[in-house]
Amino acid sequence: MRAEADPNLIVYFGGEYVPLREARVGILTHALHYGTGVFEGIRAYWNDAQEELFVVRPLEHYKRWKRNAGILRIDVPLSPEELCEITLELMRRNGLRTNAYVRPLAYKSAERIGVSTDDEDAFALIALPFGDYLHSDKGIHAGVSPWRRIEDNAIPARGKICGAYVNSALASDEARLSGFDEAILLNESGHVAEGSTCNIFMVRNGKLITPASTENVLEGITRDSIMELARREMDLQVVERPIDRSELYVCDELFLTGTAVGIAPVVRVDHRPVGNAAIGSITRDLLELYVAATRGNLENYKKWLVPVYQSLKTQDQDSTLLVHAS
Ligand SMILES: Cc1ncc(COP(=O)(O)O)c(C=O)c1O
Repeated sequence: MRAEADPNLIVYFGGEYVPLREARVGILTHALHYGTGVFEGIRAYWNDAQEELFVVRPLEHYKRWKRNAGILRIDVPLSPEELCEITLELMRRNGLRTNAYVRPLAYKSAERIGVSTDDEDAFALIALPFGDYLHSDKGIHAGVSPWRRIEDNAIPARGKICGAYVNSALASDEARLSGFDEAILLNESGHVAEGSTCNIFMVRNGKLITPASTENVLEGITRDSIMELARREMDLQVVERPIDRSELYVCDELFLTGTAVGIAPVVRVDHRPVGNAAIGSITRDLLELYVAATRGNLENYKKWLVPVYQSLKTQDQDSTLLVHAS
């Protein structure tokens, strides 16, 4: 899915709320030439019954963004709480009442030639309507990519660093041209790392297994949510360890996780069936739990969600109460 944005969409750029068509950078911007930016991706899901838009774990996303921007010595001068407030305000100003995606971007903004960086940083926040990223209702066919995942000592994979996404784009493009729905990248030691924009889990002998965060993977927030749901709600043993390529061919279940992707079951890998080539029961249960949690339908996981319109509803109620009282 590609989200084409309305040029009148209000975005946060240069410290102000402006229409997207006015949020422009110069052709010499450092990040445009050298990939010196760090971005985030945050989901918000609309709950029709509750008439509410829930932003999923925004504080964790903003904390990760600020920390990872620090890898490139980019300073995001606001706190995670302030960034969260701007996000809610953007959604309200744009009247978003549908599933949405937030794209924070911090970047080296000096307009000059030369790769070394200086202290000219900028950031923007964009919130736009967003549907499914991967159509995975029936499960997808993934292929192991001929491209290797970038090494931590070259470009840290944990960083969501703009330039590093050349690696994801090459792998994703290659996978699609070869007839797969998504790529699985191995790291330089030949172990399974992750998908082009998602983490990976496999089920073997009733255990949920995922590569450790030291295997050149992004430290996914959805990965973290899935591990918590698996442990707390399904009593599953979750193991972080290296995964061999051939384990993908003999595992019982396989799925990908990410903010944009959600949970995408993999039912075929490299032209081989995963399990019996249908969505497995553990994957399905986790998927149901994740959907319920992120849509605001699981009381125990409301802690992950920040409602966009609730504070306004409370204000409305307060003002109604005041009217009645007067
Ligand atoms: C390379 C990569 N791996 C994994 C993920 C999943 O991370 P998260 O669950 O925090 O979205 C992403 C998300 O964009 C990604 O780009």
